[in-house]
Amino acid sequence: IPVDVFDLVIIGATGDLATRKILPGLYRRFFDGQMPAGARIIGAARAEIDTEGFRDLARRAIMEHVGAAKRDAVSIDAFLEALVYVPLDATGEAGWDELKALIRPDVVNAFYFSVAPSLFGDLTERLHSYGIATPETRIVVEKPFGRDLASAKALNATLAAHFREQQIYRIDHYLGKETVQNLMAVRFANILFEPLWNSQYIDHVQITVAETVGVGGRGSYYDKAGAMRDMVQNHMMQLLCLIAMEPPYHFDPDAVRDEKLKVIRALQPVPSSDIVRGQYLGTAGKEPKSGYLEDVEDPNSRTESYVALKVQVANWRWQGTPFYLRTGKRLRARTSEIAIAFKQPPHSIFDDAGGSWPENMLVIRLQPNEGMNLKVMIKEPGPGGMRLVQVPLDMSFAEALGEEGTDIPDAYERLIMDVIRGNQTLFMRGDEVEAAWAWTDPIIAGWEARGDRPQGYDSGSSGPDDALMLMHRDGRRWRNIH
Ligand code: BG6
Repeated sequence: IPVDVFDLVIIGATGDLATRKILPGLYRRFFDGQMPAGARIIGAARAEIDTEGFRDLARRAIMEHVGAAKRDAVSIDAFLEALVYVPLDATGEAGWDELKALIRPDVVNAFYFSVAPSLFGDLTERLHSYGIATPETRIVVEKPFGRDLASAKALNATLAAHFREQQIYRIDHYLGKETVQNLMAVRFANILFEPLWNSQYIDHVQITVAETVGVGGRGSYYDKAGAMRDMVQNHMMQLLCLIAMEPPYHFDPDAVRDEKLKVIRALQPVPSSDIVRGQYLGTAGKEPKSGYLEDVEDPNSRTESYVALKVQVANWRWQGTPFYLRTGKRLRARTSEIAIAFKQPPHSIFDDAGGSWPENMLVIRLQPNEGMNLKVMIKEPGPGGMRLVQVPLDMSFAEALGEEGTDIPDAYERLIMDVIRGNQTLFMRGDEVEAAWAWTDPIIAGWEARGDRPQGYDSGSSGPDDALMLMHRDGRRWRNIH
């Protein structure tokens, strides 16, 4: 279904995010017929190029980032027709009059700030002083949204000086992932799970976001952030919220975000004994890999490229059910999943099972091979008596839904279209971001004050040894990363 006609201004249009995600994503929406005739994408950046130059850049971005089956020369040409460019000085006056002249006040106006947060103040200021912003204007901002509570509050205040919360779209691209949204469908569109969805029946939850890549060329950003700021405060927190939240009364932006906020506020402080930090080591051999300390500038860096935490949600539903979170770079496989481990039945009627059978487990695979897997116990086939065996009820979206299941839009495509539709459900509200930092800050302050060094782990492994202990000592274990 096409969205309304819009003028989308990408500020920072020649940058990495714009060329890797935003422009290819918009093209894919165009290719699928979702971008209406008359919609316009206005690139703005410091670079002194013209519209032709911008179209060339966009064409290269599409060729590089859109699969051959999802593009063709005719539609690329037609898409590029919708692109315009204006050189713009975010901190000066150049380009703003030209930008104003381009924007049509009678269509949806959105401004994507694909620039450093330090420019947000200048941008919001000028959108107003040049009379470009209206009460309906939407602005889109990216992470990192601050690096602690104080800076997040300052950013929120900067935006709030000129825009209402309903105009601000804070992107957490995990919320745009198909399977992440599916978490809500699984929980709230089935009667099956919800009655069991509490500490009476759930033993624990494991959330894993494992990556194979190192920090690569992003060392200077990453070394100031670390896994806790880069992944846990935002993406993993959102996953935890969707698992732990109460049913919202409606699938409505504020109803959903109110419930997520309550979860974040219920998170307990995490003692240092429930935190493991790691840093990847280099490997020699045929395909040598650099270690973290070679990938960043500071050879003594104490920044973590891996973190595992045991988190408690202090409310009626979750009292006594820990959430174990882990995420890291240079791990064995790229895999993101959420595993809900249910408790054992209260009494075993089967002698040979000895009461130590594996638990029922619901695994939601976020990537790759999106799907769900429910592990259940059955009788082992054969005449050998009543022996039990655990088997998976396995469902991959690709198999279950055919082509629709494999043709999953990128998170950014969906989120940008939601901006145009004016739907904030999958965007973070200012108070949510602040609450997440309020929980994160003391954790980081704790290890900084202690001067903790992260534990080294081999590239290609499943993380530092201490992370295994985090669960072993509770009589539990992590699922394999594969
Ligand atoms: C980003 C982080 O937000 O998410 C990166 O800054 C990380 O460090 C990335 O690699 C992971 O996203 P995805 O979609 O590849 O799981």
